[in-house]
Amino acid sequence: MRTIKDINLDNKIILIRVDYNVPLDEEGNILSDSRIKESLPTIKYILEHNSKQIILMSHLGKPDGKSVEKLKMDKIADRLEKLLGTTVVKVDDCIDVQIPDAKIVMLENLRFHPEEEQNDELFAKKLSKMAEIYVNDAFGTMHRAHASTVGITKFVPGCIGFLVEKELKYLTIKDPERPFIAILGGSKISTKMPVIKELIKKVDYLLLGGAMIFTLYKAKGYEVGQSLYEKEYIVEAKMLLNNEKIILPDDIVCANKKSEDSDTKIVHEDEIPNDMIGLDIGPDSIELFKLYIKKAKTIFWNGPLGYFEIEKFGESTRAIAEYLADSGKTVIIGGGDTEEAIIPWKEKYTHVSTGGGASLEYISGKELPAIKALKENEIEFHDIT
Ligand code: 3PG
Repeated sequence: MRTIKDINLDNKIILIRVDYNVPLDEEGNILSDSRIKESLPTIKYILEHNSKQIILMSHLGKPDGKSVEKLKMDKIADRLEKLLGTTVVKVDDCIDVQIPDAKIVMLENLRFHPEEEQNDELFAKKLSKMAEIYVNDAFGTMHRAHASTVGITKFVPGCIGFLVEKELKYLTIKDPERPFIAILGGSKISTKMPVIKELIKKVDYLLLGGAMIFTLYKAKGYEVGQSLYEKEYIVEAKMLLNNEKIILPDDIVCANKKSEDSDTKIVHEDEIPNDMIGLDIGPDSIELFKLYIKKAKTIFWNGPLGYFEIEKFGESTRAIAEYLADSGKTVIIGGGDTEEAIIPWKEKYTHVSTGGGASLEYISGKELPAIKALKENEIEFHDIT
């Protein structure tokens, strides 16, 4: 696929689709700017290659096609300006807006217009008219068929940026050094089933944690107390259990409520009390997971292993994050919640994806719509280098 390195950027106006959908607090302050930081190599490269102007566009949150004060892009533009050390001019809309004569311009939240998520053709065309070259560097949004990720590729020559190139390189996991293990957590087996089915074909072992294990325990005939499980997935879960590559935790941290001041108890996986909720995997399971990690050469991890938002149920997630960070092995971390859980050790892994849903869909072997669109619409550049 074409990257910005294949293109002569000289004196061109470049429109970059970034994913600045960053976590915000109640007041709309940025909680993590890692997605903004990860976009800097592409922006800097384009700046250094004599481009005329860079126009950045992104969505932020889920405003449902309306303007929402808290989800305006102003704070993001300010943060980017600080990180780049160059002025970023933010405009008040993303279409039908006068683009100022500035080196870097940021458009308003794309999702303030319902046409963005509808992949509306006219909207996509209007976006495309602003520039001569389109760069998709929004890996986290490549699983969405929206106007700024899919529709636009029909109207302007496009390519990928460095962030997307890096994500595809690490998440493709072709011919990994073996043993190759994957650790999957998260609350719902329904959302993880496609990735489980794909990974099981590639890995030597698949270690499962998070609340999704309770559906598997149910499939084994165990009682799970008040723990979350998905009844309609028990049959599929039973089929998974026949696979010897699946490794389940063998002890569980249970509590009488989901709170820091709860009473807790560590039990075997088949002894969860009727009135308690399973909220983390236990110490024996942490040791079991470490044994598999010790033997592995390549590890992919997605999804917290317990209810890590409450500190006392984040023990296993933190322990495994730290163990992986110091392991010296090839460790690839999926984005979303997992990224949030591993922040203190982030620099130590081989790759941390910026995409939550996108990284899972890619790992599941699905072609991401935005990649497909770029491949299908390889509009010629007049002057590819
Ligand atoms: C993400 O954070 O996963 C991406 O920015 C996509 O956001 P969405 O789930 O709101 O489409």
